[in-house]
Amino acid sequence: MKILGIESSCDETAAAVVVDGRQILSSVIASQAEEHGKFGGVVPEIASRRHIESIVAVTRQALCHAKLTLESIDGIAVTAAPGLIGALLVGLNFAKGLALAQNKPLIPVHHLRGHVASCYLSHPELTPPFLCLIASGGHSHIILVEDYITFQVLGRTVDDAAGEAFDKAARSIGLGYPGGVAMDALSRSGNPAAISLPNPKTQKPFDYSFSGLKTAVINLCHNAQQKGQPLPPEDVAASFCAKVAEILWQRLEDVAHNRSQTKIAIAGGVAANSWLRAMAQKRSTDCGFDLYLPRKELCGDNAAMIAAQGYYEILAGQTVGMVLNGRPTMEIEDLFTYLH
Ligand code: KG4
Ligand code: ZN
Repeated sequence: MKILGIESSCDETAAAVVVDGRQILSSVIASQAEEHGKFGGVVPEIASRRHIESIVAVTRQALCHAKLTLESIDGIAVTAAPGLIGALLVGLNFAKGLALAQNKPLIPVHHLRGHVASCYLSHPELTPPFLCLIASGGHSHIILVEDYITFQVLGRTVDDAAGEAFDKAARSIGLGYPGGVAMDALSRSGNPAAISLPNPKTQKPFDYSFSGLKTAVINLCHNAQQKGQPLPPEDVAASFCAKVAEILWQRLEDVAHNRSQTKIAIAGGVAANSWLRAMAQKRSTDCGFDLYLPRKELCGDNAAMIAAQGYYEILAGQTVGMVLNGRPTMEIEDLFTYLH
């Protein structure tokens, strides 16, 4: 089954064609990051406008790379929640138009379910149940993937998401938005033991908290600047990356032991972080876990992951009519209403 995926929930306009949830025929991403960088973060109004400008060309290109026409597509999967509502609505209404005009099934996909599905694209052997950490710009969730469309959130951040903390900490050492990748690159020449950073505490043992850590880095930079003391940015980057990786992994490992799960996946933009990947690989070997990391280019937002999840949603009958609306917030466990 060939599914066309469309993603526009934040600042990437993306379209892709995936066969049977596993084989990518094409994946096109138009990133707006550079433009939002001028403002230090995503400007929702600009994001919506850029999606409108790019979506037709991006979708045409995805079909062209796949050497397919719309007629030969079996279903149209689109991110319908969560995300910036104006941005979501561009992809959603475009997908609705295509589905109506071509009389194709319309499949709403939860963005985080898409991130989980990015693991299927890199690991053909991966099947549920497994445990998945999703660490992105907006979420840090530990999820039990019970089957392809049944999820249970076991832990989540009580404040900032890991990606958000990366972006803010990166800004305090003078890196542009989004700062995660730049911080990762800079950290390679730094000393991870140079700066001692706090260990966040949470009431529930499997939750995360990143705002204290973020504030600690911001204050550290501020103080050094005011006192005119040297603070090598590469050491800040390395110490921060090492600490975030340790926190993200440790909770995940705790949940894995608690739930007797040995299949562990990590997805979302922060899953591209080299410290987290190295730590996950080492500790998985120590613990005897099977680890599933998406290829780096599939960690950030893309439409291949939406098409992949769309395949499993359509198999389960999760298609919708034209009354479908976008939702800025929605739990990964929930199903879209107005199903056929
Ligand atoms: O999943 P994603 O592309 O978008 C959301 O759904 O939010 O995640 C974006 C986040 C940004 O905060 C970005 O700085 C972070 O992922 N990120 C990284 C790396 N690559 C992207 N953080 C740390 N290290 C990286 N290599
Ligand atoms: Zn995302």
